[in-house]
Amino acid sequence: MLEARDRLIVALDVPTVAAAKTMVDRLGDTVAFYKIGYQLAFAGGLPFADTLIGAGKYVFLDLKLHDTGNIVAKGVESVARLGATFLTIHAYPQTMRAAVEARGERGLRILAVTVLTSYDDADLAASGYDFTVAELVPERAAQARDIGVDGLFCSAEEAAKLRPIVGSGMMLVTPGIRPAGVDADDQKRVMTPARAIAAGADYLVVGRPILEAPDPKAAAAAIVAEIAAALGS
Ligand code: C5P
Repeated sequence: MLEARDRLIVALDVPTVAAAKTMVDRLGDTVAFYKIGYQLAFAGGLPFADTLIGAGKYVFLDLKLHDTGNIVAKGVESVARLGATFLTIHAYPQTMRAAVEARGERGLRILAVTVLTSYDDADLAASGYDFTVAELVPERAAQARDIGVDGLFCSAEEAAKLRPIVGSGMMLVTPGIRPAGVDADDQKRVMTPARAIAAGADYLVVGRPILEAPDPKAAAAAIVAEIAAALGS
């Protein structure tokens, strides 16, 4: 059973390694898991991921890979060698198969993104899909399950619907988390940490409510306490 602290992933959505280092230092032992996305990854974030891993932290590389199978496989092998714990890919069957085969035995887990949360039915139609979001999300979740993907990166709202499809064997990692009373920013659908855990989320990804808090460490500690309470631990 994972401890509450290990279920909180702080999104390092900051522009520079210096800003990321400052935040990691401020959060100290309160946070063990960090997500690095495009913004930081392409600004020195990959060597910084190496530093974090060397310091005993877990790293989620949110790179949402999608390319030909061979290219995805080679990329996944490099990420596995880096020692990252989670890597996102887009939930296309060829991409998922390549990533699952290439992830190896170093502890890397592959998370699939079914449909980006910014997409609605009109965006899918404009992309040439004959599916609504409500149809495509469960379809891709079932494909991910059948291919052996380790988890899904999905909204907490989707988590409740996807858990029955993927069963207990897949992890659900959810952004869009807002403690009660905290601004939603550009998140369209938000849930409190407690409700996200109740909806079946295994890990919660939190950015601005911690990064922009007057006291980030206290904000993170409060979320860990809420997760612990929701788990009954
Ligand atoms: O909103 P917050 O700052 O907590 O964002 C944490 C993560 O949520 C981001 O790193 C991104 O992966 C995801 N996100 C999202 N939809 C948005 C904004 C962010 O899924 N509209």
